[in-house]
Amino acid sequence: MPPKPSVVGPDVIDVWTWSLDAAPDTAAGLTELLSPEELDRAARFVHDRDRLHFIVGRGRLRTILGRYLDTSPKALSFAYNAYGKPSIVSGDGTSWHFNLSHSASLAALAVSDHYELGIDIEEIHFLKEDIARRFFSHKEYLTLRALPAEAYLDGFYRCWTRKEAFVKAHGEGLSLPLDSFDVTFDWRTEPKLERLEGDPEAPSDWRILAIETPVTFAGAVVALTRGHPVKLRYRRDD
Ligand SMILES: CC(C)(COP(=O)(O)OP(=O)(O)OC[C@H]1O[C@@H](n2cnc3c(N)ncnc32)[C@H](O)[C@@H]1OP(=O)(O)O)[C@@H](O)C(=O)NCCC(=O)NCCS
Repeated sequence: MPPKPSVVGPDVIDVWTWSLDAAPDTAAGLTELLSPEELDRAARFVHDRDRLHFIVGRGRLRTILGRYLDTSPKALSFAYNAYGKPSIVSGDGTSWHFNLSHSASLAALAVSDHYELGIDIEEIHFLKEDIARRFFSHKEYLTLRALPAEAYLDGFYRCWTRKEAFVKAHGEGLSLPLDSFDVTFDWRTEPKLERLEGDPEAPSDWRILAIETPVTFAGAVVALTRGHPVKLRYRRDD
């Protein structure tokens, strides 16, 4: 049994990563941890690989969160907001915040006992069309277009994952218009939320942190720290 993680505290956000490809016996063990609703959802996947990834994502999510809450993974109960964001129903009064992201065979989980948060990871692929024009704000689009050709793809994915992590932290899903806020994505400077329509305090309230990922991925965490500085603390669940 791995050691129980200590309380996270206000100065760090825990980031866990793991592979979603698991051996059949590991997957069978993780399946045992899922709720009836999660088993229903697993059964609806058309492709076996997607089903496996969902089971390993949810199973390990439960295992890790169970250690923080000192409860059995199977006993954890999730609630969902109107936009599908899961949260924990905890009996001890601690506000545990978490968010999960998966891309290809990689999962990433951010956990805090202080801050509402979102996480996004994406595997980097060559882009067939001008996706940025559709999804980015005008300012982000112009900034991206001004990058040298060899810096475009990394810049695109830095911007995409920061925007997606902000949307996930905010919790309103894509009903938060993607052009209502600007993020920075210059690799040399600290990431920032530059603007959120209707909320002049937002740039100082929200913190964006780039995640160290394998080179073929990009990732970001966004948290509502209201000006408190935080660092990422990397953990692994192998
Ligand atoms: C629902 C949404 C969070 C899905 O995001 P995604 O990148 O496809 O998936 P991720 O792997 O990062 O996140 C999925 C996890 O986020 C969580 N989640 C679901 N709805 C969520 C919400 N509204 N807010 C935050 N987290 C959410 C769940 O834990 C989910 O895991 P599960 O599939 O095991 O239940 C949503 O933001 C979305 O549909 N995005 C579409 C992508 C897009 O257009 N992005 C534009 C960026 S510029």
